[in-house]
Amino acid sequence: MIITITNTKGGVGKTTTAVNLANGFADRDRRVLLVDMDPQAHATRCFLKEEPERDVGDFIMDRPSLAARSVSSTEQPNLDIVPATANLTETSELLSTRIRREERLSRALEVLRFDYRHIILDCPPALGILAYNAIIAADLLLVPVQPGVGAVTGLDTLIKAARELRDQDNVPYRILITMFDMRTSRTNAIFEEILDEHRRRLLKTIIFKSESLNQANLAGKPVLEFMQNSRGAYDYDELCDEILRLRIRSRG
Ligand SMILES: Nc1ncnc2c1ncn2[C@@H]1O[C@H](COP(=O)(O)OP(=O)(O)OP(=O)(O)O)[C@@H](O)[C@H]1O
Ligand SMILES: [Mg+2]
Repeated sequence: MIITITNTKGGVGKTTTAVNLANGFADRDRRVLLVDMDPQAHATRCFLKEEPERDVGDFIMDRPSLAARSVSSTEQPNLDIVPATANLTETSELLSTRIRREERLSRALEVLRFDYRHIILDCPPALGILAYNAIIAADLLLVPVQPGVGAVTGLDTLIKAARELRDQDNVPYRILITMFDMRTSRTNAIFEEILDEHRRRLLKTIIFKSESLNQANLAGKPVLEFMQNSRGAYDYDELCDEILRLRIRSRG
């Protein structure tokens, strides 16, 4: 299953979710491929110590039959990564002149999808050509949302874009509440209201705001490796289980 983690908003927990889902599935003995679509390369730095030779830009621009060349293995036995580097910014420019430019990632992943139980794509916080590629490739869009005023701004635009890109009315998406803070219940109430029409798509798991996640990110590690018995590790463990229970059909 290909899960694309996306939201046009920055800093809502996309990368934290991508890193910890990938690690959580791998920890459950499932083969996982993490694809970093963000030139900031935060997810990449969690799993690779050295600058990779080839990155997701090569993965997208090469012929699909050559895609495997851009996959790097990590220290986590079940987890491989298609890393991002700063060069990815150029890739989006190069892509704009190519035919079928929105489908290139999907075609590259097609070659690898039977080698992995889960493929997880971490998107940059913008609706550009890279995010378009990731949205088209997805079996499931996972949208992290942080409670607060304006929390779901952009959500309608995102789903509308996904419908158009995928030529599909019923886009498979789920919303994940991240960085939930008990102490700010007033803003949470506002959030509940706005979320109304997306309520059916809301995952039961809530990722609480926790120092464990913040510290793990600063250390560049999945929370499970950083602090096994912590709020953050528990929350992402729940999320892995919930996603495994979802019945989402693979597209290919
Ligand atoms: N549940 C959490 N509790 C506390 N801090 C968190 C939590 N989730 C993420 N953070 C922190 O919030 C910041 C943004 O998180 P993250 O990088 O995952 O967001 P993002 O959506 O990928 O951002 P960007 O749009 O820049 O790619 C980071 O400093 C991270 O450590
Ligand atoms: Mg990110």
